[in-house]
Amino acid sequence: MSNYQYIVSARALLKALNKAKYGPMWTTSFAGYTNVNLASAPLLEQVMRQEGKYPIRDHMEQWKDHRDHKGLAYGIFITQGQQWYHLRHVLNQRLLKPAEAALYTDALNEVISDFITRLDQVRAESASGDQVPDMSHLLYHLALEAICYILFEKRVGCLEAPIPEDTATFIRSVGLMFRNSVFVTFLPKWTRPLLPFWKQYLDNWDSIFSFGKKMIDQKVQEIEAQLQAAGPEGVRVSGYLHFLLTNDLLSTQETVGTFPELLLAGVDTTSNTLTWALYHLSKNPEIQEALHKEVTGVVPSGKVPQHKDLAHMPLLKAVIKETLRLYPVVPTNSRIITEKETEINGFLFPKNTQFVLCHYVVSRDPSVFPEPDSFQPHRWLRKGEIQHPFGSVPFGYGVRSCLGRRIAELEMQLLLSRLTQKYEVVLAPGMGEVKSLYRIVLVPNKKVSLRFLQRQ
Ligand code: HEM
Repeated sequence: MSNYQYIVSARALLKALNKAKYGPMWTTSFAGYTNVNLASAPLLEQVMRQEGKYPIRDHMEQWKDHRDHKGLAYGIFITQGQQWYHLRHVLNQRLLKPAEAALYTDALNEVISDFITRLDQVRAESASGDQVPDMSHLLYHLALEAICYILFEKRVGCLEAPIPEDTATFIRSVGLMFRNSVFVTFLPKWTRPLLPFWKQYLDNWDSIFSFGKKMIDQKVQEIEAQLQAAGPEGVRVSGYLHFLLTNDLLSTQETVGTFPELLLAGVDTTSNTLTWALYHLSKNPEIQEALHKEVTGVVPSGKVPQHKDLAHMPLLKAVIKETLRLYPVVPTNSRIITEKETEINGFLFPKNTQFVLCHYVVSRDPSVFPEPDSFQPHRWLRKGEIQHPFGSVPFGYGVRSCLGRRIAELEMQLLLSRLTQKYEVVLAPGMGEVKSLYRIVLVPNKKVSLRFLQRQ
């Protein structure tokens, strides 16, 4: 384990230890700020229900520093107050509601078909003819291809071999930015000119933005060409960015500031969740069999699941919920309530207090989820079993909750149903136990290697 991994694993462990020592509410100090940590479902509920019209998650200082340095507009993660409200209002369109996300079903299914072709190539290259040595890696490529196609209607070649160079550079830059961000967060500002991390961090962001900018420029040129050729009537609106640009909902500056952040949000999140889901399905063959039966009972093998079919797959949804309970992609979130004082359990906290929401600890609380460390999707299907609505809120809550929730759910449901239809998934020999590592998002501590056995 590298030092860096120690830092991040220790943070998760510390929260669990603090809860055991101090109970579900305690304070910590970091970089001159005092934070109030909350680690029970009722406490999370209290803070989130008081969050007001313009909730702030975090000041995102390091992200802001990069945007200021480069003169870029703040994106959706960084903006606050009325500016955030306006941006969010615009971005919610064509994305937030389940019926709007359903518009992307065909695009997602097209990418998933190519993913399965790629998966079969990788299997064929393995010694046993059915093994995928690094599931997260492959799923990362699926997730990036899917989000690019949804946002920009552009295929970027992630499921080809080899991957185009600029796409590969983007992927590398995202990984390195997250890695360097741990150092730039924990090290004092005066170390920036002395140590390599800050410069690398800025360079990583630059690569991420130049990839996003290229995609946006291509889309703008496409729209201009359509306008010139056939006037406003001739513009065929289809994808997300296309919709926002042709309706004059976003300025180019806002687009350039926001879309790279959307790309980032849409990749590690779904790919890691899918990896964990497949890992647990491999370890629980009886659940996997039940899921196979459910899926093929609705959509026989050889047919492609559609949005309407998913309504008849409760176990599929429960598998995803249970996976996100065990591995909330954002294990620790926060809220800064600026508009008014906040009352928690009879204590009054001043405006601008930062509340740290310890989701990982809460979603493994045995008083809400009996046998909290075991994978039991059926718990979500038994009436009255889940003891608290804020026990597991993997997409956050309220007006600042996840913007991509519906497309993430759709993508994960379509992919898992296709894979379950076609293959029996088992752990590769010698895989052993996989633990989670806290690397901004929760990731497996080693490569997850799986065998995909073709079903008859
Ligand atoms: C398994 C998949 C995903 C999970 C578990 C997840 C989880 C989250 C969480 C916990 C938050 C913070 C919410 C809060 O503070 O209340 C968030 C915010 C956000 N997510 Fe996701 N996310 C996922 C996928 C996606 C995807 C695919 C997109 C693509 C567009 C996306 C876009 C965003 C954005 C833009 C925000 C910030 C919203 C704002 O500040 O207004 N997420 N997500």
